[in-house]
Amino acid sequence: MRFFIDTADLDQIKEAHDLGVLDGVTTNPSLMAKAGITGAKNIEDHYKKIASIVEGDVSAEVIATDYAGIVAEGEYLADLAPNIVVKVPMIREGIKAISHFSGKGIKTNCTLVFSAGQAILAAKAGATYISPFVGRVDDINWDGIGLIEEIAELYAIQMYDTEILAASIRNARHIVQAAKAGADIATCPLHTILGLLKHPLTDIGLAKFLEDYNKGNA
Ligand code: E4P
Repeated sequence: MRFFIDTADLDQIKEAHDLGVLDGVTTNPSLMAKAGITGAKNIEDHYKKIASIVEGDVSAEVIATDYAGIVAEGEYLADLAPNIVVKVPMIREGIKAISHFSGKGIKTNCTLVFSAGQAILAAKAGATYISPFVGRVDDINWDGIGLIEEIAELYAIQMYDTEILAASIRNARHIVQAAKAGADIATCPLHTILGLLKHPLTDIGLAKFLEDYNKGNA
């Protein structure tokens, strides 16, 4: 399973990149605003900066919700850098636009996916990635990881090429479960990726090894 970082914060993107485990970046309008990036020109410049830090795919989300607007904005975003992927919401006009982008060889990430039916439609339209929101499904007391499992099973049966990008990941356990459930990628905040490092027995074990080594050198 590949790792994308789910942020627009350049320092966090660089930190994850320096760790050597980063395969791409996802953003959304809320993450841009959280990083203090507002206004179309600033957002565009920011996408270029992000795309220059990582070699992998960088999802840039369209704001338009009508077909012509999504196509115009998506083609513009795709031209900003070779690794930009156009992130399109799971709406009727979005599906039409994904089909258009697919025909032109422009990579897409269909976002705001909450059901297996939506995942089928996005795959049929030729989406490169779909983003089921695991955490937000859990938030309404449904089963976010169960959704990943169901989509992975039906994509395998139907032999769809669309990749499952598990999004709205809230903790390290979600990453492990998404990997088991068949997600191709997990996009996570930096603290969640770093959460994979943590185990109290690792800390206790290392402290003991260092203590014993230093006894020998005393
Ligand atoms: C990424 O593509 C999604 O926009 C993001 O993971 C949503 O996460 P949230 O539910 O924590 O806002």
